[in-house]
Amino acid sequence: MSESKILVEVKGLHKSFGPLKVMDGLDFTLSQGENVAILGQSGTGKSVLLKVIIGLLDPDEGEVSLWGRPIAELDEVELNSLRRKMGMVFQSGALFDSMTVYENLAFPLVENGVTDEEAISAVVRERLEWVNLAGVEDQFPSELSGGMRKRVALARTLAADPELILYDEPTTGLDPLTSRKISSMIHDIDQRVKSTSIVVTHDLACARKVADRWCYLSGGKILADGTPDELFESDNQEVRGFLRDISVNPATGSQAGQDASGTISSGKES
Ligand SMILES: Nc1ncnc2c1ncn2[C@@H]1O[C@H](COP(=O)(O)OP(=O)(O)OP(=O)(O)O)[C@@H](O)[C@H]1O
Ligand SMILES: [Mg+2]
Repeated sequence: MSESKILVEVKGLHKSFGPLKVMDGLDFTLSQGENVAILGQSGTGKSVLLKVIIGLLDPDEGEVSLWGRPIAELDEVELNSLRRKMGMVFQSGALFDSMTVYENLAFPLVENGVTDEEAISAVVRERLEWVNLAGVEDQFPSELSGGMRKRVALARTLAADPELILYDEPTTGLDPLTSRKISSMIHDIDQRVKSTSIVVTHDLACARKVADRWCYLSGGKILADGTPDELFESDNQEVRGFLRDISVNPATGSQAGQDASGTISSGKES
């Protein structure tokens, strides 16, 4: 364990929005190759944590280091080169509606400076195969089902070969069968590209499939951190209660607060 490289280190993170304190001294560390699920009630700051890690939101206090480098000390060029190693699949998918699927997937490659059209086309085709969507290149996002759009969003994130992938609610709003398929795909992708990932989810089946480490976020801190079994047997009543409730009623916690995260996401996603 001490051998593995730390990709993300968050120390003493504080973040408030006006009077609302969302992060209250949160600490979190993620090593290369780990696949962690972040769980917690709606509105506890799971999406905010991802956005702080990827740099869409600035901490009020505390330090975020990526690949061992405190981001506050980096210049714009260094920061951008680290950000290129990260990909995020947003809660709402956030595809560009005016672009075809092909253009959506090509976009991150072009942004990363790839100009060879054949190379782009090969990557686009391969990533669409990874998510079982070969042949939809010329369609627009509006012509696809919700589950297909999520898979295109997944493929787009993968197009840029990120070392660290952040998934915000990859299965929310999908039927159980489609959710299972997406969870399996994320699992297969983690195996295939040996990615390090953080998955925020309310879907315990998804969390089980894609992560062997679970963190429970509450009160602006990580209240529990361990294997799924350790969390189910946690001494902390809130953690045990949450997991029990959500096992019985998977819809728990997935409604309130959704607007808030949708709203903040929408400005930055496209
Ligand atoms: N940019 C922002 N401006 C104001 N308030 C914000 C902003 N971003 C997040 N919040 C607030 O911070 C809190 C945490 O939001 P966040 O989206 O992280 O919750 P979440 O845990 O992801 O919830 P959900 O499970 O519903 O997606 C919410 O109360 C939200 O309203
Ligand atoms: Mg959220």
